[in-house]
Amino acid sequence: SDQSAFDTDVWTLTRFVIETGRQAKGATGELTQLINAMLTAIKAISSAVRKAGLAHLHGLAGAVNVTGDDVKKLDVLSNDLVINMLQASYSTCCMVSEENKELIITPKDKRGKYVVCFDPLDGSSNIDCLASIGTIFAIYKRVSEGEPTDKDALQQGNNIVCAGYALYGSATLVALSTGAGLNFFMLDPAIGEFLLTERNVKIKPKGKIYSLNEGYAKYFHPSINEYLKHKKYPEDGSSPYGARYVGSMVSDIHRTLAYGGIFMYPANEKSPKGKLRLLYECNPIAFLIEQAGGVATTGTQRILDVQPEALHQRVPFVVGSPDDVNEYLSFVKKFQ
Ligand code: AHG
Ligand code: MN
Ligand code: MN
Ligand code: MN
Repeated sequence: SDQSAFDTDVWTLTRFVIETGRQAKGATGELTQLINAMLTAIKAISSAVRKAGLAHLHGLAGAVNVTGDDVKKLDVLSNDLVINMLQASYSTCCMVSEENKELIITPKDKRGKYVVCFDPLDGSSNIDCLASIGTIFAIYKRVSEGEPTDKDALQQGNNIVCAGYALYGSATLVALSTGAGLNFFMLDPAIGEFLLTERNVKIKPKGKIYSLNEGYAKYFHPSINEYLKHKKYPEDGSSPYGARYVGSMVSDIHRTLAYGGIFMYPANEKSPKGKLRLLYECNPIAFLIEQAGGVATTGTQRILDVQPEALHQRVPFVVGSPDDVNEYLSFVKKFQ
């Protein structure tokens, strides 16, 4: 192959999506337009995140959102970018955002056939300490005729057409799947394109890392604490697991895909359904984890099978390497 540093036949994300789109029967190019619009928003968020300290974009926006989080200035900026770019792509009929209480209905003259549920900035409690943060999205086909309704967004994760996340880390990466495997793309800021860096990513069957906020141990269900004890003091002579927790789910999930292991945001006495929201955090991530051969469960059912009832509903969330998640499930069974 061409040994020069410059690849003259480069696989950009746009080219990848066009190729995938053309293989889809009856493709109109609308999904390609939608994904490109999301990528534009992600590039702008990446630039804002990296300039935040200089542009006084750190700190609180002085509001609390519907899920009770303090809203940061970058949360608001990211939210506006995603909404404006997607509506301008003529491919959406409505959207759900972590930062908007109600369904966001696309103006009539700009409507298309897709629904997008997104978390514009994930891990925003980490903005001011410069830890990695991300953006998460899931795309569905609308199910309503005429005026869009909540029903368009309250679909099972099984109906996801495309999902992805952006990670604003040491590099800006996009993980994306349209249902035929999970692919990683890195942003080359010199040309403003996302270049394919890893195709058809698969998670290890078993890892050596567990990831959760053990600060809530006092409030965990005993199955969690028993499982953790088994990871720390294995009775079968195997070596204990390592612990890693960033507190930015996109970061913790990307490490889990890259190195294997288990990520948990379990229910606890204080939040009986856990903290993570089904529509724009758990479903898209569960879709991507399963595309990589991993397992994603609430502890009692597969995430993608949950029938959503409310736009901001939370579910307990345990995902990662199949052997690790299944071992955790054996502890759930023991305590049932
Ligand atoms: P968001 O910043 O979009 O509100 O999401 C933050 C989430 C998720 O990124 C992370 O896993 C979790 O909050 C961390 O919660 P704790 O601080 O309770 O561990
Ligand atoms: Mn939040
Ligand atoms: Mn989030
Ligand atoms: Mn968020």
